[in-house]
Amino acid sequence: TGPKICVVGACNIDLISYVERLPVLGETLHGKKFSMGFGGKGANQAVMAAKLGGEVAMVGKLGRDVFCENTLANFKKLGVNVSHVHFTDEAFSGVAPIAVDDNGANAIIIVTGANDLLSVEEIRAAESAIAKSSVLVCQLEIPMDLNLEAMRIARKNNVSTIFNPAPARPDLPDELYQLSDIFCPNESETEILTGMPVETMEQAEQAAKALLDRGPKTVILTLGERGCLLVDNEGARHIPTRKVEAMDTTGAGDCFVGSLAFFLAAGKPLEDAINRANKIAAVSVCGQGTQSSFPDASGLDPEILSDIQTAES
Ligand code: RIB
Ligand code: NA
Repeated sequence: TGPKICVVGACNIDLISYVERLPVLGETLHGKKFSMGFGGKGANQAVMAAKLGGEVAMVGKLGRDVFCENTLANFKKLGVNVSHVHFTDEAFSGVAPIAVDDNGANAIIIVTGANDLLSVEEIRAAESAIAKSSVLVCQLEIPMDLNLEAMRIARKNNVSTIFNPAPARPDLPDELYQLSDIFCPNESETEILTGMPVETMEQAEQAAKALLDRGPKTVILTLGERGCLLVDNEGARHIPTRKVEAMDTTGAGDCFVGSLAFFLAAGKPLEDAINRANKIAAVSVCGQGTQSSFPDASGLDPEILSDIQTAES
């Protein structure tokens, strides 16, 4: 059996338009290409961990609409456990219209829809799925009380938590920081959460330390092509990544977080897990789309998965 991960979070359908450049206010642009893909930060992270060979349980909610059956089929195809994926008639499934420009930069609108209707009762009903995992992962695309409840359940059951504060919201409850074993924001999220700049490495370190002071055991600040900054009680370490020609960075953060969860659930030490997750995220930015750009085990340099017991092996 493989490393066990539970992801509580959003499932979206990504509606991606490829454009020369992002539109400005009031402008109508011709796009070059359109594609649809499975997305949502929670779903993306779950799928990434499953692609590496993790035993993954997803907790989330879909609208009973044209998107839900396909989303469910996608999870099942990848071996993600969907016992705690619920359905509602009250809202559409979450969607994310995304524009990606020629440099691979993006602008995203998220309409959370059904994701917002997941209930605290449904989180509690997933206690056993959380408890039997090594790592729980949560993000900010579902209501805050659901994340808090899931993370409380994890703490009570000695399950490690990774909190990915995406998309950023300025005022997070203290308890959320305290329940995070790993608090993992990117640069812009860190700026929003701290009000501090994250341009230089020194600034990044100061901002990460400010987040650490709020209660997580470890802060991993992702810095795009600069890699990551790992900050804990022992200090700060910069963990660089390989430079690549980015084609589409959409979902790269989710690729990193899902991979990180997988390697930690596999028992790898933190810096080793970060190094491996960095390499996988670098692969993902070279491909179009979100989940469609996430490599599976067979598409990776075997070294990245060396000495790991996966669901297949
Ligand atoms: O992080 C990328 C994701 O953000 C996309 O898949 C989109 O659904 C939005 O949730
Ligand atoms: Na990508």
